[in-house]
Parts: sequence; structure tokens; C-alpha cells
Amino acid sequence: MDVPGIALITGAASGIGKATAFSFARDGASGLALLDLNKEALDAVKFGIEDQERERGIMNPCRIEVYPLNIGDESQVNEAVQSIASTFGRIDYVANAAGVAMKHEGGAAFVETSDWDRILNINLSGSLFLLRAAAKIMLKQEPILSSRDSRPLQRGSIILFSSIQGVAGIPLSTAYAATKHAVIGLVRSSSEDYAKDGLRINAICPGYTETPLTTKSPQILQAMKERVATAVPMERMGRPEEIADGVIYLAGGRSSFVTGTALLVDGGYTQR
Ligand SMILES: NC(=O)c1ccc[n+]([C@@H]2O[C@H](COP(=O)([O-])OP(=O)(O)OC[C@H]3O[C@@H](n4cnc5c(N)ncnc54)[C@H](O)[C@@H]3O)[C@@H](O)[C@H]2O)c1
Repeated sequence: MDVPGIALITGAASGIGKATAFSFARDGASGLALLDLNKEALDAVKFGIEDQERERGIMNPCRIEVYPLNIGDESQVNEAVQSIASTFGRIDYVANAAGVAMKHEGGAAFVETSDWDRILNINLSGSLFLLRAAAKIMLKQEPILSSRDSRPLQRGSIILFSSIQGVAGIPLSTAYAATKHAVIGLVRSSSEDYAKDGLRINAICPGYTETPLTTKSPQILQAMKERVATAVPMERMGRPEEIADGVIYLAGGRSSFVTGTALLVDGGYTQR
């Protein structure tokens, strides 16, 4: 899929971020910087990818480094991104899968300010902190040409995580839906800032996907299965790998003319 460069992936310890890390390695990235709150799980992902590369007999396995951090802490994000740039020499693809979801019992009228602040900090401010730190570096680095057919000026690609809740409402999800709508606004505005410089910025909007976010609580899983049966034309949840493939498309040279968009990977949910 034409992703030979260095990928920075947050939320890489679990679910879609973890699948994205495996997919970048499979599709030929030369380096992976894996970021998450959970250091142990990050290490397990690193070892898993290294094992897979050994089993596949890859001659030049990709270099993998892990960076435990809180995406909602701007100084931690700045420090990690600087460190990644000096360790790997450049950053070509950024996928910000770190995120948290929650339901507010009783709906918007009963949202706790502390819950609102936490979800906004991680999902929205975290997206800005990462975009800001990475874009400063990506804008200065030499452009790379597509390994396929030398398409013009590719200075890098940033993919922020929105959701079907970035374009539609779901009950009891005030803070989460607000952040996911806002991420699309962030993408639209910032993509305009740098389109002419060859830095592309897009959002991905996963539909219901089988990850710990949706499956760890039996109640949430049950509610989700009932909703999926009626609301998703494909009548199933997505697999993390199916979302990761959308990220790889937006990261690589095959999407060289795509910026400022929100790619829905949702089994048809939002067309209904
Ligand atoms: N699973 C779905 O159905 C679904 C649907 C739409 C959008 N999304 C979005 O996709 C992204 C990935 O979700 P997932 O389902 O893989 O979730 P997940 O819970 O499996 O993984 C999220 C990861 O983010 C990390 N994380 C959480 N807070 C963090 C913080 N403050 N700093 C650093 N890392 C942090 C967690 O440790 C975890 O490893 C999220 O942005 C989510 O909102 C998921």
C-alpha cells in the first residue's frame, strides 16, 4: 500500500491502534513509533510484530520503539514527538487512535463536568497536541515521492480519529459525540492550512468495531449487538483490521490527492 516511511501511532496498545501498527508493519513501513498510556501492552504489541516479521522471514524488519504517554498532556506529547523525530530521522504518517468513550446516565442534562473535561482533553485536545507537534516537524522535512509512480510533493499524512459519532448522534454520548464532531472540524481547517505544502490531514470515522472499547463490558456489548442488527446495513461489527486498512490508505501514496476528508468505514451505517 505504499507506506515505506516512519509511522507514529497512538492508542497502539489496543484495538484499532494495535491493528494499525500490525498493518503498517505488514505493508512495509520502515519504522514504527508506538504510543499509549499502557506500557506493558505496548511492549506486547512490539514483540508481537517482531515475532510476525521473523516468522515471515522479513530481511529488513521495521524498527519499533515504544513511548508511554498521556495524549492529553501537551508537554508529554511534545517531548515524545521530538524524541521520535530524532530517533527515526523523520515522521511520515501519524495515526491518532488513542481515545476514550463513555455514556452519561440520564443524558446531556446530567453530564458531570469532570467527565466532559476528561473526554475533551483526551479525544480533542490530544488530537490537537499531536497534530501540532507532528506537523511542525513534517512541514520542515524533505518531501518523499511515492515509491510507485513519483506522485508530486508528499510531505506526510496525519489521520485523526473521529467516528460515526462525528457525523451522527447516538443517545447518552454527549461528550464523546461532541469531540468526534470537533475532530472533523480540526481536520477540515488544518488540512486547508497545509494542503499546498504537501502535508495531508484527514479523519477516519469507524463504525461499530470489535475492540476492548466496545466489548469489555457485557452490557455495552449486548446493547451494541442489538443496535448493529438493525442499524448497520452489513448487520455486523467491523474488525479492527478493516479500520486499519482505511488508515493505511489515507497514510500512503495511493491517497496522494485526498486531504480534509472524513473517511467512513462503517458497514453502511451513516448512509441509512
Ligand atoms: N471501537 C469502535 O467501535 C469505535 C468506533 C468509532 C470510533 N472509534 C475510535 O477509534 C479509536 C480507537 O478505539 P478502540 O476501539 O481501538 O479503543 P481501545 O479502547 O481498544 O483502544 C484505545 C487505546 O487508547 C489508549 N488511551 C486511552 N486514553 C489514552 C491517553 N490519555 N493517552 C494515551 N493513550 C490513551 C488506551 O490505553 C487504549 O490502548 C478511538 O479514538 C475511538 O474513539 C472506535
